[in-house]
Amino acid sequence: MKKVLLDCDPGIDDALALMYLAGLHRAGEISLSGVTTTAGNVGVKQTALNAAWILEQCGLGEVPVQAGESAPLVVDLVTTPETHGPEGLGYFSPPAPASTDLAAAQEQETWQEMWKAAAAAGAHLIVTGPVTNLARYVDSAGAAGFSSITIMGGAINYRGNTTPTAEWNFWVDPDAARSFFEAPAHSTLCSLEVTERFLVDPQRFESMLEILNRHPLTAVLPEILRFYFEFHEKQGEGYQAQIHDLLTCMIALGTVPYEAMETTVAVEAQSQLLRGTSVADLRGHWNRPANCAVVTGADIEAAHREFSRALKLLASPENAVS
Ligand code: BDR
Ligand code: CA
Repeated sequence: MKKVLLDCDPGIDDALALMYLAGLHRAGEISLSGVTTTAGNVGVKQTALNAAWILEQCGLGEVPVQAGESAPLVVDLVTTPETHGPEGLGYFSPPAPASTDLAAAQEQETWQEMWKAAAAAGAHLIVTGPVTNLARYVDSAGAAGFSSITIMGGAINYRGNTTPTAEWNFWVDPDAARSFFEAPAHSTLCSLEVTERFLVDPQRFESMLEILNRHPLTAVLPEILRFYFEFHEKQGEGYQAQIHDLLTCMIALGTVPYEAMETTVAVEAQSQLLRGTSVADLRGHWNRPANCAVVTGADIEAAHREFSRALKLLASPENAVS
């Protein structure tokens, strides 16, 4: 069974990615061995609280969650409450955890220990936030052990969603992205030009709620998704939402058909104007070895079917975790 370590910054699309992984975990299709978080959409403590809360609602309170690095490697942290809400889950505020839960979380392994154990177990690492933790970890321990590393980030030779050329995750911590792609490591990159095609609109959302039936998350998902729909509408994208991180998880696990191209990716961190811009050397000008499989297309209808399948698994009483 595939072991999975998710590093995320929930974040609304990260939250849907967590629900997807929780559905597969509960059905015994994967083993979600842990979740670590980064500072990005909101601060790192909040991303950890959000991840723990979502998992708890999915009956996976036993999956360890640990906050990672609290700030980018070099630049100051910028968060995006206008995209994901003040606490990262739209109009919804997760309840503050009991002090006993916080104490228990502090007694767990550190995020670096979780990564080491996951690498030793050959886990698939999926990163759906800024790559701060990834860059720090690879810098000190290398990338060996992980069966694969899949990242949501970048806009490859494509317009950005944060600046004319930069995607949010790489823009937040450009030095981490630069450092990771300079390291001897291979990854699969799910960048904006593909992930932004995976859209949930009110009709799709209604059918998600129907599948989830009486699942506890149906009480809060409308408040979470409404915020994300409104954000995209203000951006001129229509009353719908791009679910980047969920598609990334499916690509990481090979549960959706996709195409990718081996190439060399680099990220700009020095220039103000081009901060976080990602480039792929499609013609071999740099004469450097390939470091990345850049995803160039994915079967979006199959991704919707796969998400519905996972939501059924999540809602099924047969998969209840004792
Ligand atoms: C990425 O930025 C974040 O706001 C989303 O969670 C996603 O990981 C898309 O650019
Ligand atoms: Ca994210």
